[in-house]
Amino acid sequence: MKVAVLGKGKTGKKVIEKLGVHNEHTVFDSTNPPTIEKLKGHDIIISFLPGEPFLNYLDVLIDSKIPVVTGSTGFEWPSETASKLSKNGTPWVRAHNFSLGMNLVHEMIKVLAKADKLFESPNFKIHEIHHIMKIDAPSGTAISWQDWSKHKCDITSARTGDVVGDHKLTIETETEDIIVQHQAKDRGIFAAGALWSAQKIMAGEVPAGLNDFNDIAIKELL
Ligand SMILES: NC(=O)c1ccc[n+]([C@@H]2O[C@H](COP(=O)([O-])OP(=O)(O)OC[C@H]3O[C@@H](n4cnc5c(N)ncnc54)[C@H](OP(=O)(O)O)[C@@H]3O)[C@@H](O)[C@H]2O)c1
Repeated sequence: MKVAVLGKGKTGKKVIEKLGVHNEHTVFDSTNPPTIEKLKGHDIIISFLPGEPFLNYLDVLIDSKIPVVTGSTGFEWPSETASKLSKNGTPWVRAHNFSLGMNLVHEMIKVLAKADKLFESPNFKIHEIHHIMKIDAPSGTAISWQDWSKHKCDITSARTGDVVGDHKLTIETETEDIIVQHQAKDRGIFAAGALWSAQKIMAGEVPAGLNDFNDIAIKELL
């Protein structure tokens, strides 16, 4: 496949590494911004741009009608994006966290969301740690975990060193604590999840519209 890679920073360069020599690719960054003309001829676009530039290029990406896999975080999706993609017939996959293991965590948190059935007023807390260059806080993953838990969580963030991504959900009750933790050890896991999604798109297994990575990956667990 011929891939347009948006961003060759900490995560984008892992995508480029994993594409290897068998897949043609073009890199787009500040010195080579994407345009409809330059994107023509690519089979798929993979973005690990920061949220703001991704949002600035959103209309160009939609108008290109090329499928997109995006891990960009730290922005609000315009509400009309999904309907534009469905109308265009273009499949997109997005994720706050492209770790394949995060799909197992998703399933666990869906179970933990039922804590109220067993405990009186359980307290949900999330602590996330990332490297000092991460712009957004709390992380998109922490926000997803809160959504999955169906509880208002007390979310705290720390920025230190080169931590790839560490998320911990604690459910405190009077008598016991339940803890789920996910630690990303290498940014290659995000590139692997993004490429896995790209292959699902190329295989025609992803419907047109704005799809969440978890909804695509969950099919593997059923
Ligand atoms: N969903 C996931 O699994 C996941 C995992 C990791 C990271 N992320 C997210 O991915 C994004 C990137 O993270 P990162 O740590 O890889 O970033 P990074 O190391 O800072 O790299 C950012 C890249 O974007 C390019 N860029 C910045 N502004 C641009 C612009 N206006 N036009 C074109 N290119 C531009 C940079 O190019 P220049 O050097 O030329 O400016 C650079 O190549 C963040 O939103 C992060 O939260 C998501």
